[in-house]
Formats: sequence, C-alpha cells, structure tokens
Amino acid sequence: MGNKVTILGIESSCDDTAAAIVQDGWVLSNIMASQEVHKKYGGVVPELASRAHQQNIIPVVDYAIREAGIHHDAINAVAFTRGPGLMGSLLVGTSFAKGFALARQIPLIEVHHLQAHILAHFIKADPPGHGLPEFPFLCLLVSGGHTQLVIMEDYLVMRIIGQTIDDAAGEAFDKCAKVLGLAYPGGPIIDRLAQKGNPDAFTFAKPRVPDLDYSFSGLKTSFLYFVRDALKQHPGFIDQYKNDLAASLQKAIVDILLDKLKQAARLTGITQIGIAGGVSANSGLRGAVQEEARNQGWNLFIPPFRYTTDNAAMIAITGYYKYLNKQFTQQAVPPEARLRY
Ligand code: KG4
Ligand code: ZN
Repeated sequence: MGNKVTILGIESSCDDTAAAIVQDGWVLSNIMASQEVHKKYGGVVPELASRAHQQNIIPVVDYAIREAGIHHDAINAVAFTRGPGLMGSLLVGTSFAKGFALARQIPLIEVHHLQAHILAHFIKADPPGHGLPEFPFLCLLVSGGHTQLVIMEDYLVMRIIGQTIDDAAGEAFDKCAKVLGLAYPGGPIIDRLAQKGNPDAFTFAKPRVPDLDYSFSGLKTSFLYFVRDALKQHPGFIDQYKNDLAASLQKAIVDILLDKLKQAARLTGITQIGIAGGVSANSGLRGAVQEEARNQGWNLFIPPFRYTTDNAAMIAITGYYKYLNKQFTQQAVPPEARLRY
C-alpha cells in the first residue's frame, strides 16, 4: 500500500445506509442500501430507518471493503456522518465507526453531511471535464432538508451566503408530489413526468425574499390551493394534467433556485460554480444551470448522479481532506441531529 491514504466513509443520516472506500482522493467503492420500507408511508419513518441501518451496516461496509479490493488493514481512518440528520439513524453509523476505529486503533473523523455534499466535487476522476473546481468556489447546495448558497474558500473552509428561510427545495418537490398522490420521494418522479409536460401550462406564486435567501413554503401552498380548487371543478384534473403540473412546478422551483445563484455569482464575481445535493440530480436544474453557464462564462461543475443523492463516497472524500489536515475526532463525540458547520 506504500504511503497511500485509505479512508472508509460511512453515511447513515437518513434512510440510506452507505459505505465507501476512498484512496488518495479516488473512489475505490461506493455502496448503498436504500430502504424500501418507507415508501408506503409517504415519508421516512425514523424508527424504521434506524432499525434498517442496524441490519444493513455490517453487510454494506463488508461489501465496500471487498469491492475496493483492499484488505481492511489498509484502512487509515474511518469517516462518519456526525450530522445533521435523524438521531436514531446517525447513532447507528456513528457507533459502528467508533467501534471500527477503536478495534483497529485508527483515527476517527467526523463529517458534516452538507459539507460532504459539496466536497463530492473534489472526488478525483479521470477526464471528461475540466478537473476539479478552484477556490473560491460558489456552490448551490440543494437537498431534502437544506437549500444554501455556499462559498468554499478552501477544502474545509466554507461560508453560507444565503439559505432558505422555510422549506428546502427537495421538500417543495416532495410535498407537492404528495399533493399529486405520487410516492415518496417525489422529486425524481416529478423530474420524470416533467419531461413529458409543458412547463408554461401553469404558474405559481413567486417568493419575494431579500438578499440571497430562499423561500419555498409559499410555492407549496400556492400549488396545493391551485390543485385543490381545480379538483373541485374537475375531479380528473390531476390525471389529465399530471405531466404539465410536474413540468410547471419544476420550472417554478428551478427558476427560484437559479435566480439567486445568478445574483450570488454577480455579487461575488466568482466564476467557479457548482450544484450539489439530491436535487442537483434534477434534469431541469442541470439544464438550466448549463445554459446559464454558457451565457455567463461560468466554469460549471455538476457531480455525477451517484455522488449527488446521499452516498458514502462524499463522506470518505471529506474524511480524506480532514485526514490530510489531521482533523480527528474523539471517541466521546456524540452525533448531532442539528449539527452546524
Ligand atoms: O441530498 P439528498 O439525497 O438527501 C438529503 O440530504 O436531504 O436529497 C434528497 C432530496 C429529496 O427531496 C428528493 O426528492 C430530491 O433530493 N431529489 C430530486 C431528484 N432526485 C432526488 N428532486 C428533483 N429531481 C430529482 N431528479
Ligand atoms: Zn444529503
């Protein structure tokens, strides 16, 4: 193994149990067990998530190590998601990581889940593309629980310059999808339906929030009332216009997201721009930022799909940069459901 730095990353903040091996910044394996149990409840049930993590964590880690083709003695440190997330879920990954590190006498590294979503941009990969972002790097982080504009000054130095004052963009997708009777999580389903719909069929309330902050609760309410009123007139409304509703909703969310991203780029003068988090998988958002990047001359970074939604490669890569900085964690550190940067 020579002087290679090999990190085991563990992610268990919500409903995916994931483990990955990163070596010198390259991903050797990235394994995930998604939990199907929540589908029929229309959302994540914390108690069930925690139990499923317990069942999955050992096989998932075992598989990640085998898939990487390394011996577990080669692992130099264990990185784990300390938060934010569901407490019962975080506890499983945290406890496992602690046990693993203690047994092997290797360092433990805590990782902030949102920082990891952004650091997914710094996973080394062969071209295609233009390498890794340079600093300062402006990133729109859009996930199920967060919507933030973040400036990265360095690998581990970030500054939030705008964020949602109520719902996250992913939440807006998921809650509006629920109004249409779609399964959870609704974001990817809306994305799929939207591709067959007219984005200009319907319009919904636009938020008026100062500075670089976001708001999505007004859009959600506007969507709910609009659909409810339409159903009174025409009980088959959703079925008939499902694709148009999805396309119009997606356009509304993407417009809101892009608006402030453009503003942030203009205000800061930063041209290294990226999107990250689960919602950055959205094809409408990807298309819109690509177009804007061409217009504005941005150097745009969009992570591959496997690194956008929750995954452990992003935890392991964050662990890698923290390892190089010798930022280690004590065994006594507890998980934090509301961990801040
Ligand atoms: O980052 P993530 O996997 O988990 C959190 O840390 O929250 O994000 C999950 C969110 C969900 O709200 C899901 O609906 C949304 O990302 N999402 C999408 C798409 N894929 C995932 N939203 C819109 N279009 C997609 N293709
Ligand atoms: Zn996430």
